[in-house]
Amino acid sequence: MYLCAMTFVEKRHPDLSGKKAVHIVTFGCQMNVFDSRRMLQILSHLDYAETENPENADMILINTCTVRDKPEKKVLSALGRFRPLKEWKDDLILGVCGCVAKQKGVELLKKTPYLDFVLSPDNIPKLAEVVEKVSCGERLALTDFQPADDYEFVDVEPEVENVSAFYTIMKGCDKVCSFCIVPHVRGREISKPSAMIIRELKVLCSRGVKEVTLLGQNVNSYGRDIPGEMDFAELLERLNDIEGLKRLRFVTSHPVDASDRMLSCFGRLGKLCEYLHLPVQSGSDRILEKMRRGYTRDYYKSLIDCVRTHCPGIALSTDIIVGFPGETAADFVETLRLIEEAGFDQIFSFKYSPRPHTAALKYPDDVLPIEKQRRLNAVQELSDSITSKKMASYKGKTLEVLCEGLSRIAFSSEMKAQYTGRTRTNVVVNFFDDYNSVDEGGLAVVRIDESYQHSLLGIRIVR
Ligand code: SAH
Ligand code: F3S
Repeated sequence: MYLCAMTFVEKRHPDLSGKKAVHIVTFGCQMNVFDSRRMLQILSHLDYAETENPENADMILINTCTVRDKPEKKVLSALGRFRPLKEWKDDLILGVCGCVAKQKGVELLKKTPYLDFVLSPDNIPKLAEVVEKVSCGERLALTDFQPADDYEFVDVEPEVENVSAFYTIMKGCDKVCSFCIVPHVRGREISKPSAMIIRELKVLCSRGVKEVTLLGQNVNSYGRDIPGEMDFAELLERLNDIEGLKRLRFVTSHPVDASDRMLSCFGRLGKLCEYLHLPVQSGSDRILEKMRRGYTRDYYKSLIDCVRTHCPGIALSTDIIVGFPGETAADFVETLRLIEEAGFDQIFSFKYSPRPHTAALKYPDDVLPIEKQRRLNAVQELSDSITSKKMASYKGKTLEVLCEGLSRIAFSSEMKAQYTGRTRTNVVVNFFDDYNSVDEGGLAVVRIDESYQHSLLGIRIVR
């Protein structure tokens, strides 16, 4: 799963008085959102608070991704956008963090004379040190991989925690997908010890977090790098017992490592939500082999049959790449067929883009841009039509919604407030009830009256 939109980490300190201000722009996946939060926490100990307005900032951080080339272009254009601020405010600190930082390193520093520092994800714990050096006039790039200790928990302030939290349980990836730059920029798999995960999640839940999404490039191989460590299925079983936690989710799973025991956690563990993101990438065995994914379409289909047997109502999402080198029209039809057969609730689809340090670079990028676009459109149209049917099927149903707060449109004609939240299957639900009657983080039972492409609308029926 991949969030390619430009997201701003929520403003957490409305009161900037007496504090320095940092503006963080985050491009990319949930892991980047999590990293932005870690940086914010480190900076809060240096008396920085977050601002949504770059013009107020004493420091601007661009936290980036490099999986496809678009986010990389966005970084360069963001740098250009912030350049006048840097010229206007001499002591403004400008840094690039995340995977682009790892990939481009010193080169980015050389190319951008107004950039103060470049910091790869592994070096986030050194952010305070970097800020100190930059304040003394140094320019630097820290991009080396670091051992496991970057998992050190950065304390969070209780009153600023959200109902839902992302939480990284492992970093890096040991897979060898031929299109993917992640192993190069994030390194080998390193799991966080389970005892630490359990302890830290207990802390988060005692501070009001109700829903946790565990993050890793391939959470299914959790624990393999630590002798004697529990596996991912057992970790889920242990986390299911945490007091105060209401919902547990995770991304992402590689199909090859999806064990039967892990799949059977769905429907068996009360807190594990009925939602699984299982990237397939292609429906053609020939292309899957060239992608070095290590499975066939039949194997993939057997996994989804298995998880649906354990948990019939589970929502499934996937990632699809169109226009991989050598993908013929017939290969692409296989992908469309798989999408139909699997009936994915949601699809994240991408045009193949050649990345440095990947094995697929040796193949000619031979699918024409116009054809890649046509295939992307076809995937998205098919996906939209499946999603509409799924959304319509929620109408009239009664669902459990975890309330995230009041939605923007606050009142209906009957003077009911409108709240927003998500179902266990990860669908956004807006629902009406009396003002002040639903707590943020509370579970509401909602009857669904209307369905739209990306959300549902309903009314709370049980108090
Ligand atoms: N394990 C991670 C993978 C991160 S990359 C996860 O599944 O979240 C996220 C997705 O980006 C991949 O699943 C793939 O669909 C897409 N992707 C990766 N490299 C790509 C490339 N070179 N071109 C197009 N899409 C790519
Ligand atoms: Fe990338 Fe494949 Fe790992 S998509 S993150 S190399 S599982």
